Amino acid sequence: MSNIEQTLSIIKPDAVERNLTDEIKSVFIKNDLKIKNNKKIHITKDEAAEFYKVHQSKPFYDDLCTYLSSGPIVVMILEGENAILSNRKLMGATDPKKAEENTIRKKFGLSIDKNSVHGSDSKDNAKKEIAFFFKD
Ligand code: CDP
Ligand code: MG
Repeated sequence: MSNIEQTLSIIKPDAVERNLTDEIKSVFIKNDLKIKNNKKIHITKDEAAEFYKVHQSKPFYDDLCTYLSSGPIVVMILEGENAILSNRKLMGATDPKKAEENTIRKKFGLSIDKNSVHGSDSKDNAKKEIAFFFKD
């Protein structure tokens, strides 16, 4: 049975800065994820703190929010068959050193914090994260 989903993808500052946006987008397109909506923005630290609030108790939270607000990011809605899991597979493990061959993080990630991309991890979070960036 078909299961078309939408998920939120973010190209993080380290990747935007290195001009990897088009190359990363092409990975999604080649793997049957449509880019439905797409904008380049620079968020404040407060906005990053709101976006990442599920991580507020983690030791890396403050650095993570500083980082996501440190430069332009590209936020996108990806749509396709099992888009949430499909995007997570294309991204690879959080730590680029542990990411599978040919994943975005393996190819482009610099470190566990500068790991080039974000992707929603569940249907619920995908809905919330899409609404956060694309209110209509
Ligand atoms: O992004 P992902 O869902 O794979 O990982 P997460 O556990 O939800 O963590 C969110 C983000 O926090 C990661 O993508 C990293 O940028 C950052 N992080 C970090 O800086 N240090 C860690 N030990 C774990 C995560
Ligand atoms: Mg996560």
